[in-house]
Order: sequence, then C-alpha cells, then structure tokens
Amino acid sequence: MGHIITIAQQKGGAGKTTVTIQLAMALYAAGRSVALLDSDPQGSLATWFEFRQNNGLPCERLSQRQAEGWRLSSEARQLAKDHDYVFIDTPPHAEKTAIDAIKLSDIVLLPAQLSPMDIWAVNPTLNMARGQSRDFYLVLNRVPPRGKMAEELRHALGAFDVPVFQSSLGNRQDFASSLILGKGVIESAPRGRAAAEIKALAKELEKEIKSRA
Ligand SMILES: Nc1ncnc2c1ncn2[C@@H]1O[C@H](COP(=O)(O)OP(=O)(O)OP(=O)(O)O)[C@@H](O)[C@H]1O
Ligand SMILES: [Mg+2]
Repeated sequence: MGHIITIAQQKGGAGKTTVTIQLAMALYAAGRSVALLDSDPQGSLATWFEFRQNNGLPCERLSQRQAEGWRLSSEARQLAKDHDYVFIDTPPHAEKTAIDAIKLSDIVLLPAQLSPMDIWAVNPTLNMARGQSRDFYLVLNRVPPRGKMAEELRHALGAFDVPVFQSSLGNRQDFASSLILGKGVIESAPRGRAAAEIKALAKELEKEIKSRA
C-alpha cells in the first residue's frame, strides 16, 4: 500500500496546492508513482493535470482524481493500492473536508508562511491533526531570505511545540510559473534554487515516512 499524505491548512493561500503539486512532481521525477487527489471543489489539480496532458508531458505512473464527502476515502484507498504516494489537497475554510482527509492520511503537512498571522492561523488545523492522532509537520513556505524577522519567527515557532521540516521553500516565481505549463519546478527549472528546495523537502518527507515504517 502507498502512503497517503494530506496537505492541510485552513488559512487560504498558504501554498497547499503549490506544495502538493511540487512535492508530488519531485517524487515523480525520482521514479515514484504518484496520485494527486483533490478534495477542493475549485479543481486546481484537475486543471493542472489537463495542461500536462495537453502539453504531451509524461503521465505514466501519475494519476489525478477529484473527490469529496463519502467518496474521498474510497478514492484515496483505491489510489493507494497502486501508487507509492497519494497526495490529498484540501480546501481552505472547510473543516469537515480537512478532517476527512486527515483521518485517511499517514502524515499531514501544514504549509505556513513565515509571518505572524500565518503562524497564528496554524492552530485550528494543528488541532484537527492532533484530534485525529495524526503525525503532522509544518512546511515553511515563501520564506524570505535570511534576516532578523525570519529568525525571530522561527524562534517564535518553538513555543508551538510543532515539528517543522528543516527544508523550507523560498518565495520563488519558478514555483508558480512551472504550474501553468503543467509541470513541476523539478521539470521546468531543474537546476534552479526552487528545484533544489523541493528536492530537499521530498527527501526529508521520504526519510520521515521510511523511519516510521
Ligand atoms: N513558494 C512560493 N513561491 C512563490 N509563490 C508561491 C509559493 N507558494 C505559493 N505561491 C503562490 O501563492 C498563491 C497561493 O498558493 P496556493 O494556491 O498554492 O495556496 P493554497 O493554500 O492552495 O490556496 P487556497 O487556500 O486558495 O486553496 C498562488 O498564487 C501561488 O502561486
Ligand atoms: Mg489550493
């Protein structure tokens, strides 16, 4: 059975969909089979996948599905049968869907930007993951270059008692622009900094998953 990874964050615009696709594609490029399951009715994953197919990019070992409500768990379990990883993207401000997805997952990733408001906003989602006894990790997204504020906020995070992945993602155009092409940054700019960051994050995620096996 493959591993189910939910990307959740009740705050809108934290980077859930971006992290989902970029991380999935980094693992895909490393030879894994990957499924993208969208529980957000906005359907961004389907749009991205359509671009990918229309551009004739490789799609073997890669699946994309949309599911909400009672269909979510059957779809996720089905996909986990023949993919190494199933990534579930979740909508903002939709507690029930987020909890449904969290319940199904082996591990929950919470993207958060490194600003006071974003960090305060992590609590409701954290409580959902804790409530379902799921392992969760904060993924810092759009991290500004090293500076006093970034350091202070990282320090403030210590008070939350939350595991944080060492690898974080910078605020980089490549993360957004690659998606328009139906690609991940690992394909569109493989030698850039964004690709290096997502590769490091994927490696850390796999290491974490393997250590629990
Ligand atoms: N690391 C990054 N660098 C640059 N831009 C980013 C990064 N992460 C996200 N973005 C941009 O921020 C915006 C929000 O990202 P995204 O849609 O992934 O967030 P989300 O949490 O899925 O939003 P929603 O809650 O609406 O589903 C998008 O315009 C995206 O391109
Ligand atoms: Mg989204």
